[in-house]
Amino acid sequence: MASLENIKAGILPSHVAVIMDGNGRWAKQRGLDRVFGHQAGVEALRKVVEAASEAGIGHLTLYAFSTENWGRPDDEVAALMGLMVQSLNNETETLLRNNISLRVIGDIDRLDEGLRHKLVETIRLTSVSSGLKLIIALSYSSRWEITEAARLIARDASAGKINAGSLTPADFEKYLSTDGIPDPELLIRTSGEQRISNFLLWQLAYTELFFTSKLWPDFGKEDFYDAISDFQKRERRFGKTSEQISDK
Ligand code: IPE
Ligand code: IPE
Ligand code: MG
Repeated sequence: MASLENIKAGILPSHVAVIMDGNGRWAKQRGLDRVFGHQAGVEALRKVVEAASEAGIGHLTLYAFSTENWGRPDDEVAALMGLMVQSLNNETETLLRNNISLRVIGDIDRLDEGLRHKLVETIRLTSVSSGLKLIIALSYSSRWEITEAARLIARDASAGKINAGSLTPADFEKYLSTDGIPDPELLIRTSGEQRISNFLLWQLAYTELFFTSKLWPDFGKEDFYDAISDFQKRERRFGKTSEQISDK
């Protein structure tokens, strides 16, 4: 098991993204309602935010609710939204104390007024923090985000603000909800599923992927450090040869 000291001795990923999966199965294994799994999931989330902050990681993006998750049973969706409001109420102080700022990516117009208001307030309050940048993907999907970017580009092109014919990848990125955020260097997905589930499709182009069979509520600080330790052993080539990388 890797410790904080172990991983701090190596180069840290500047941005870690996490698909927090397996809450429902965790509850089912215990004969409980799925909602208990989501409650336990909030605890795991707190631990991982703390671990990332202690390690000195710059950005942490957590996939909390996808566009597709709107299709879950109404009572589960309502319970998840309630948990978000509760977490924001309970954790804003801790975020400020630990110098963590909050940002949200996703179609927040679909959230109810109360939650949206609470999010905007927490984002404003924590904007003074200069430590870990915590990004929550909420009502988010990559296809929504990319379509939204295309729509905004078309709007600006027809208003004469940009020249669509000379659009570059760097220009395109400015229209994504992650504008200004470096691409994730490491993606962790829990629960044994090995798929991306409509998460950061553009931004994950060269991200290192780490899959673990642990269910999200069982995932702790050591597991997070293990994933980083695994990342630190990899050679990232970005299309070049191994020799080119080691000659640098
Ligand atoms: C992840 O756990 C949380 C959300 C998607 C909101 P799941 O609820 O997907 O748990 P499983 O995959 O059913 O076990
Ligand atoms: C992905 O998990 C979304 C989040 C973790 C918020 P899902 O449980 O919704 O993904 P699929 O349906 O198994 O691909
Ligand atoms: Mg799932």
